[in-house]
Amino acid sequence: MLLCVGGGIAAYKALELVRRLRDAGARVQVAMTEGAQQFVTPLSFQALSGLPVRTSLWDSAAEQSMGHIELARWADHIVIAPATADLIARLAGGHADDLVSTLCLASAAPLTVCPAMNHHMWLHPATQANIDLLRQRGAQVVGPEDGPLAEGESGPGRLAQVPQIVAALAHPDSAVPSVPSSDSRLRGVRLVISAGPTYEDLDPVRYIGNRSSGKMGFALAQAAAARGAQVVLVAGPVQLPTPAGVERINVRSAAQMRQAVMDALPADIYIGAAAVSDYTPKVVCPQKMKKTAQTTGMSLELVRTPDILAEVAQQTGALKLVVGFAAETHDVATYARGKLVNKRLDLIIANRVGVAGGGFESDDNAATAYWADGEREFASMSKAQLAGQLLDLISQRLDA
Ligand code: PMT
Repeated sequence: MLLCVGGGIAAYKALELVRRLRDAGARVQVAMTEGAQQFVTPLSFQALSGLPVRTSLWDSAAEQSMGHIELARWADHIVIAPATADLIARLAGGHADDLVSTLCLASAAPLTVCPAMNHHMWLHPATQANIDLLRQRGAQVVGPEDGPLAEGESGPGRLAQVPQIVAALAHPDSAVPSVPSSDSRLRGVRLVISAGPTYEDLDPVRYIGNRSSGKMGFALAQAAAARGAQVVLVAGPVQLPTPAGVERINVRSAAQMRQAVMDALPADIYIGAAAVSDYTPKVVCPQKMKKTAQTTGMSLELVRTPDILAEVAQQTGALKLVVGFAAETHDVATYARGKLVNKRLDLIIANRVGVAGGGFESDDNAATAYWADGEREFASMSKAQLAGQLLDLISQRLDA
């Protein structure tokens, strides 16, 4: 792990990060910017990491033991903590005028950026544009958190908690989303999101279900809450942890999901990310259905479930935006546009299912969004990243 420490007051928290990363089994090489050395001495990092700290491109002794290009190749992962506004800008601009920026430019390793700065600097459109650029290039952004800042003010700008940074490095999808971004259009907006599968019981033992893991809907709920939205998450039977600040209502069947969604209205936005069963058994057997020696096959009589999304979309007065998903194996655009029109939606997010690396269960997803007179494609990325980009689009469509 190459830990690059930027020049902010939160640099002292990077000392703890070194310890926790080493506890987790990582070998940690620290590189510091000149600014970082104003806050913490390289010696402190050396004592905790057990390795001499790299501070300059022009250190001939250090370059002789491992040149900076070699070091950039050595890293399996680069984490920048704290990432200051200036460091983020220089990374976005592709600068290579000091050791840290050169290492980042010369490395193909995954990059995790943990911003920490004054909240006005974080919310400035320049910083937001720079961090978005890093995200688009695949960087994972962890934090910042909202709270009291060193200068006595309060706002989004605190370095994410060290355990959260370590967890995000181990499991990229658990990353704490940046709060809040300059996009504050979702602040205070009430959002109802459905997620996960539904289970339609056949008897006390068996059910009809589907492959939805809930990851996409939970990622949307987490990202929306981080942007200050008031989020109600109606979740089918999945074991995912409830994102911070989200009100979760657990349901099992399509009928229960419909009831929970209707009870959660009125809302400003509804996002139907759940894979709701289209059919349910006409009769639920109170006892376990038994096979007999004579029965070689069996037929089940199924009846349609209510279409929750279409029903929500009919409540035009209550909602500002109704967003559906379309999970398709083929003819994605045609089916998605059909659902947009037939269910009277404002926006539909279509994704291909039944392929590796996307759709159900996967940690990643690619999608195309369709609305009446437009569409936008989203390349494959983690569901956490996709959720952030979909919410950007949803915010824009709110104003359309
Ligand atoms: O949970 P994951 O493993 O992350 O996977 C979810 C996903 C990544 C595939 C997700 O993006 C997705 O596509 N979810 C919706 C899947 C789905 O059921 O699509 P559909 O095409 O069958 O349904 C269309 C829309 O109608 C959906 O918004 C669905 O919530 C809604 N619907 C469907 C049937 C029904 N009875 N009521 C509904 O509200």
